[in-house]
Amino acid sequence: MSNSMWGGRFSEGPAAIMEEINASIGFDQKLYRQDIAGSKAHAAMLARQGIIGADDAEKITAGLDAILREIEAGEFKFSRALEDIHLNIESRLKELIGDAAGRLHTARSRNDQVATDFKLWVRDTIDAMDLALRDLQVALADKAFAHAGQVMPGFTHLQSAQPVTFGHHMLAYVEMIGRDRGRFQDARRRLNENPLGAAALAGTSFPIDRFQTAQALGFDRPTANSLDSVSDRDFVIEALAAASLCAIHLSRFAEEIVIWSSAQFRFIKLSDKFTTGSSIMPQKRNPDAAELVRAKTGRIIGAQTALQIVMKGLPLAYQKDMQEDKEQAFDAFESLELAIAATTGMVLDMEPEAATLKKAAGSGFATATDLADWLVRELNMPFREAHHVTGRIVAIASERGVELTKVTLAEMQAVHPAITDAVYSVLTVDKSVRSRTSYGGTSPKNVRSQAKRWQRALAREMKA
Ligand code: ARG
Repeated sequence: MSNSMWGGRFSEGPAAIMEEINASIGFDQKLYRQDIAGSKAHAAMLARQGIIGADDAEKITAGLDAILREIEAGEFKFSRALEDIHLNIESRLKELIGDAAGRLHTARSRNDQVATDFKLWVRDTIDAMDLALRDLQVALADKAFAHAGQVMPGFTHLQSAQPVTFGHHMLAYVEMIGRDRGRFQDARRRLNENPLGAAALAGTSFPIDRFQTAQALGFDRPTANSLDSVSDRDFVIEALAAASLCAIHLSRFAEEIVIWSSAQFRFIKLSDKFTTGSSIMPQKRNPDAAELVRAKTGRIIGAQTALQIVMKGLPLAYQKDMQEDKEQAFDAFESLELAIAATTGMVLDMEPEAATLKKAAGSGFATATDLADWLVRELNMPFREAHHVTGRIVAIASERGVELTKVTLAEMQAVHPAITDAVYSVLTVDKSVRSRTSYGGTSPKNVRSQAKRWQRALAREMKA
């Protein structure tokens, strides 16, 4: 049997394998809400423009509402023979309201319909990501404020570099997540033009009003070129690009959680809520949630790459290739949402181990830069020379197997006679972080005020 929706010139049905490769209903049923909203806006516009009768538009609207209820109640029977969500809904509409259903597709094509549906879905998803990321920022800013003065080692090359504070480290991620949110918001702004009414590719001869449907669906304006309207998948790729970068940030944090919670570091404690045991090694507390957040990045970047490869080299306008835009995007955003929620959970759960952090902060000659800066400031030494002198003092400490504070004044004066015992005052970790008061620096005072600034901005946002 040929397809009842488009089978006018077909005498035979598709081969089973054709149906299998062609059908998208298995995944695009996720778009049912957007599809129904788009159809309702379209029908109302057609009636207002006198293209279909008001009575038909009413029947269509009532029928679509009934279908929405059926789908939400789990009573709707999706059919693979009907290919996709658009034809499944239209076919059911015909069963429910009869011939009036056939008027809905006037001045429209599945090409502009699917572009509209998917844009609406991506838009909703961007909003959901933004909210989830805001919650993560709140959790991070609160942690930062609570531990603004907690010293810890700061690393470069994963070698002890200079002491920083735990709060400062948390705020680094608040900044990164802030940029991620900005990218999602940018993508949303560019996305928000209505493709509906571009029809198959060339527009339509019916006197439609695309501004009406744009407004009804919350778009800023209609898209300006019908060919572009049905061929554009930039909006998905751009949202996936924002998702990829966000996932990269989450995975970097996840990696730090894995390192920090290891027995060798013990910088933080994660409770039983975010760790698992081993079936064979009783001592273990594995940071599985962090590891999985780190790993989800692969499928999110994969989805972006996959769609970029699908789109590359496609001629205008719609090509069936573009049906491959959805499945991996759905998966990617579902994964990202889960990763964000798990990260927020871990931030709320983690407790910095104060004593370990403090001890680690002072090891590895972490205050060597403070010593060099002291030589510059107090002895008016050029920084390069101060670096050299400090290096020789570090070598003494290293040979003796002690920290810088334990190098004697006599030993220091052997390297440079002008050094006085005032130098010891800058060699402690607390002094070191307290001195880093330059804008954006790690001093507890700075961190407290930056954390407050974020807490206030986020609270204001939540009230708005
Ligand atoms: N299921 C299709 C997709 O997701 C809808 C558009 C199909 N258009 C067409 N002319 N066959 O891309």
